[in-house]
Amino acid sequence: MVTAVKALVEGYHESDLGRIGALSNVAAYLNEQLDRINWVGFYLTGESGNLLLLGPFQGRVACTEIPFGRGVCGVAAATGRVQRIDDVHTFDGHIACDSASRSELVIPLIDPRGVVRGVLDIDSPRLARFTEEDERRLVEVVSVVVAALYS
Ligand code: SME
Repeated sequence: MVTAVKALVEGYHESDLGRIGALSNVAAYLNEQLDRINWVGFYLTGESGNLLLLGPFQGRVACTEIPFGRGVCGVAAATGRVQRIDDVHTFDGHIACDSASRSELVIPLIDPRGVVRGVLDIDSPRLARFTEEDERRLVEVVSVVVAALYS
């Protein structure tokens, strides 16, 4: 998975549009590779630095803005920490874009300066879909993405 993602992002040429194209391919690839998911994609930090804006994704129509600190994505962005939530109904402030979502894995994209540039958000209709091993592999995927696009 990491090798394939590396290939998808290494042709990137410095520009905002190039970055969007590369992230689109990563979302499409992860959607093909991961089973039992209903949404996968990126939220990217807006210019204000405290708002996540909807980026490239695969899945149903989603909310376009999430303030830092709100919902699972917002908490991952505000704290810079991975959020692996077995049951989103127990997460205070969870934003239900798709009512089918039951578990969620959110990994922040943190650049070498320590700035949170966005998050990778993956939702599943199954309870406790994401294991520690999934988290480890996807953190590795995100670090390859950040190294190519935000370093
Ligand atoms: N459930 C997320 C919102 C984003 S959508 O699921 C795509 C959250 O609480 O952060």
